[in-house]
Amino acid sequence: MMDINELHEKIKDKQARLAVIGLGYVGLPVAAMFADAGFNVTGVEIIAERVEKINNGISPIEGDEPGLAELLERVIKTGRLRATLNYEDLRDHDVILIDVETPVDDQNIPRYEALRSVLKSLGSVLKDGALVIVESTVAPGTINQLVLPLLEKHTGKKLNEGFFLGICPERVMPGKLLKNLSTLSRVAGGMTPETSQAMISLYGYIVQADLDPADCITAELVKTTENAYRDVQIAFANEVALICEAAGGDVWKVRELVNKSPMRHMHLPGAGVGGHCIPKDPWLLAYGANGKDVVLRIIPAAREVNNTMPLHMIKLLENALAQVGKPLLDARIAVLGYAYLENSDDTRNSPTRSLVARLYELGAQPVIHDPWIPEYDGDVFERIKGCDAVVLMVAHSEYRTLDLARLKSVLRLPVLVDGRHVFSAAQADAVGLTYRGVGQGWE
Ligand SMILES: NC(=O)c1ccc[n+]([C@@H]2O[C@H](COP(=O)([O-])OP(=O)(O)OC[C@H]3O[C@@H](n4cnc5c(N)ncnc54)[C@H](O)[C@@H]3O)[C@@H](O)[C@H]2O)c1
Repeated sequence: MMDINELHEKIKDKQARLAVIGLGYVGLPVAAMFADAGFNVTGVEIIAERVEKINNGISPIEGDEPGLAELLERVIKTGRLRATLNYEDLRDHDVILIDVETPVDDQNIPRYEALRSVLKSLGSVLKDGALVIVESTVAPGTINQLVLPLLEKHTGKKLNEGFFLGICPERVMPGKLLKNLSTLSRVAGGMTPETSQAMISLYGYIVQADLDPADCITAELVKTTENAYRDVQIAFANEVALICEAAGGDVWKVRELVNKSPMRHMHLPGAGVGGHCIPKDPWLLAYGANGKDVVLRIIPAAREVNNTMPLHMIKLLENALAQVGKPLLDARIAVLGYAYLENSDDTRNSPTRSLVARLYELGAQPVIHDPWIPEYDGDVFERIKGCDAVVLMVAHSEYRTLDLARLKSVLRLPVLVDGRHVFSAAQADAVGLTYRGVGQGWE
């Protein structure tokens, strides 16, 4: 029978060999930070091109990620981080962090193919006494009901005898990966209190914030709840925005004044919610009640509200075009921003994708620009030239400094629809643009 205390000492001495499985937005910075903290880290990926880039010290993440490229170059040079496609390389590893994607399907059911595949691959290589930590976001109950039985089955080892298990969900977001990793508190969910303590010692090397011990179900619930909270709050802000438009008010002014009232934290409305996490984590939380006699109303309603915001942008567009006497059919529409987040290259669940699909359905001709996505980058004014309207979907820095007079001069018709409150109606008006913005009424 193995003893977690032995491993705990190895972690404290940085003698534990670490593996990070899945070198995406989360796994790559985690692996690099542990390597920088002095651990020997092996990163495992299934995408060969990613492995090659990382081993050459080049970050595969194209978005603005302060410090990551330099950190990666440094830890690859020291030899403390190495990426591989081969699970055989993990045979002598003491701690395995799992950072693979955990999406939901079109019925909003969790899809754990990547996680299942990792657990299977670990079966023949997991060292006796290793600690497996899931960092991916999973539905409440997944560690106990899926990860534990699969690990026991594939490894032939028993929990707390042949291996230890925990979950420490990540709280990062693209654009702030390193900052969030080091400054945001984490929940260290262990299958035993001793496992949580070993995890706390480990994360203490990279996290300068609270590390709270908990059981696994609590850690799973906390992570999915925090993202569902955000989705519900954004949906509320979006619904208020729709009311402000209808009532002839300005949601931005309303929000500012509402938030002066104690205990009010109204979120930002906008053109939609995207990314790998916020659109699916509420469904992961909801899945925690799956098969039980619980009726969920708010979480599904919030998802619906947020999913309809890109379509609402089209309503605003049609309305503004009508004001200048142009139907949407055959109109050439410049769409600014294809990532889901400002200054990011992450296009997963991008609201712009829904907008563009609907524009095509309605017979319009979208012309996409995004400075962070090679397929759509280039000169923004060249892209806008000859279009009938601009629809701003993402508040990339480049768009915040756009010269509106020049924008108007290259457009065929003077229409600007702003989904992120980058410009005010007054700024647009000053150069003669017909303006519509989410949450802003017009006459
Ligand atoms: N992106 C975020 O901002 C964020 C924030 C907090 C938590 N999370 C959670 O972290 C997890 C990872 O998210 P991400 O954004 O880094 O995803 P990602 O898609 O960027 O990275 C996952 C990586 O895992 C690799 N992979 C898949 N199957 C594999 C396998 N069998 N073996 C080895 N590698 C494999 C993929 O090729 C990919 O590179 C998800 O559960 C997500 O919900 C993400």
